[in-house]
Amino acid sequence: MLPYLFQQQLLCQKRGAGVGYPQNMAKILLVTGGAGFIGSHFVHYMLQHSDYTVRVLDALTYAGRRENLQEAEGNPRFEFLHGDVRSRETVEQAMEGVSLVAHFAAETHVDRSILYPDAFITTDVYGTFVMLEVARQKGVERFLHISTDEVYGDIEQGAFTEESPLRPNSPYAASKAGADLLARAYYRTYGLPVIIARPSNTFGPRQYPEKLIPFFTVRALQDEPLPLYGDGTQVRDWLYVEDHVRALALLLERGQVGEAYNIAGGNERQNREVARLILQILQKPESLLQSVPDRPGHDRRYALDTRKIRALGWQPQTPFEDALRETVLWYAHHPEWWEPILKEQAEYRAFIQQWYSR
Ligand code: NAD
Ligand code: TYD
Repeated sequence: MLPYLFQQQLLCQKRGAGVGYPQNMAKILLVTGGAGFIGSHFVHYMLQHSDYTVRVLDALTYAGRRENLQEAEGNPRFEFLHGDVRSRETVEQAMEGVSLVAHFAAETHVDRSILYPDAFITTDVYGTFVMLEVARQKGVERFLHISTDEVYGDIEQGAFTEESPLRPNSPYAASKAGADLLARAYYRTYGLPVIIARPSNTFGPRQYPEKLIPFFTVRALQDEPLPLYGDGTQVRDWLYVEDHVRALALLLERGQVGEAYNIAGGNERQNREVARLILQILQKPESLLQSVPDRPGHDRRYALDTRKIRALGWQPQTPFEDALRETVLWYAHHPEWWEPILKEQAEYRAFIQQWYSR
């Protein structure tokens, strides 16, 4: 792999990054955080639906797993680099010869950001700064920044448009807002061709079992109580991961540089409804539902206006109940994916213990 990479680097350096690739040479798409949940689905999608060489840069934190990329291993258009987006030297190497960037790498769990915010600031804010700075030096063609709907804060009625102010409420959301604003500033100040995606709560196979849907699914599978924060009437607008990555692929190709795009499935559900559906799919009793103290600063409702991305031709394709069933059954049929996390990752057990006994 390396000699091929170096050959490409040399060629790219000769012709100047990002322009005039020879016909037979695939452009390189750098995907940070590609060993995580959404990043790995995006990698598989792009290998199937484009002729790009897909290069993953991932630090393999607790949330990143090489086995999420198993299907891609052996594909001559797939490369994996183990490294940290906070290291400028690493990012400079990873961005050699790269035309396109999709930046997913982040600390992503709100609850963890309440317990240990440091890594959120260093990875989500500073790591994004490093990515933008190196992309500017290298002159990449397009930089797709994966932000989140949580940057807007919560909304009682109606829906946020891309012009709504950013009013984040958790350390996670605030660090993502910092990254989002840096991405915008790099477009306005340096003309870096940035496109910003602001997707809503996403679910699907291979999501780390700490967020609502995978956590409740593996708890129910083990007949353990499902801890609903507060009264469980908080609302999220759920987006299936396959719909999510199709939207990102479209933005990479056709999104307008300098613009932000909301992405959501249009599936507003209360948390307690989602919990009940999971129990029904697994034929488990509702007595497993358990009310626990609310999360501090908990956003009550997220809702997005998605007309802007729909105008580009995207719409979600998978009905929520079907996608949820598919996801829950995937966990039921793949204990070999999640059981080792529960049994072998001491760090996982420590987090669950610390958070849910607080
Ligand atoms: P994830 O937690 O499953 O994966 C994150 C990945 O980033 C992991 O592979 C991890 O190893 C890697 N990573 C973390 N720190 C790193 C660092 N310093 N250097 C290099 N790699 C590092 O996350 P996800 O749910 O797939 O989310 C991906 C992106 O989408 C994030 O930017 C997140 O903010 C955003 N997002 C997620 C959701 C959601 O519901 N999951 C919704 C909207 C936006
Ligand atoms: P989560 O999946 O953590 O995403 P986010 O906090 O980024 O929206 O949580 C989704 C919703 O589910 C949120 O309102 C918090 C709630 N929740 C619980 O009630 N209990 C839990 O154990 C978890 C993890 C989440």
